Amino acid sequence: MALRLGDTAPNFTADTTEGKIDLYEYLGDGWGVLFSHPADYTPVCTTELGAVAKLKDEFAKRNTKVLALSVDGVENHRGWISDINETQGTTVNFPIIGDEDRKVSDLYDMIHPNSSENFTVRSVFIIGNDKKIKLIISYPASTGRNFDELLRVIDSLQLTANYSVATPANWKQGEDVVVSPSIQTEDIPAKFPKGHKVIKPYLRMTPQPDL
Ligand code: BEZ
Repeated sequence: MALRLGDTAPNFTADTTEGKIDLYEYLGDGWGVLFSHPADYTPVCTTELGAVAKLKDEFAKRNTKVLALSVDGVENHRGWISDINETQGTTVNFPIIGDEDRKVSDLYDMIHPNSSENFTVRSVFIIGNDKKIKLIISYPASTGRNFDELLRVIDSLQLTANYSVATPANWKQGEDVVVSPSIQTEDIPAKFPKGHKVIKPYLRMTPQPDL
């Protein structure tokens, strides 16, 4: 059955461009982003992997490790990485799984046969430090992902894991957040001493509490 939000991310071992990896050991106590690519030596994937390499420090600030996958083999990936480094002006600094036998692609349901029988779609899984799946998105092969959006989601997930808040549409770090419906309005001042606004009884805003 397909994975859903809140499920435990299935562990696996896989060959990668940085040697054999056990997912849980690789993530340790941190967060993870597991994302798949349709194939090596393809243009959009080349730009995506370059973009992720440039964001390595941003993922690290969020205690998050990235792990890419394509159904080609590790030796193929190594040649492709040289092209990515050359064309994207960066150094790929994270492992790419060689999933020729589709073990991980099948485990994470990354092949959508009505899209392509042979290639993974652009799947993204954000895995929390409790090893639960926090986000699943599937993009088509023709659309490169917005990795700043993934950082934004990680910010939201890490904030809302620690405070009784949710983040509104298009929220970014530093902007006001929504007080969870589970908090009674009369209890807000004690929990959120920076202040709050009651826009409707069900829509209460407060400054981001962890800043
Ligand atoms: C690409 O990464 O550019 C790509 C891969 C498969 C199909 C279409 C585009």
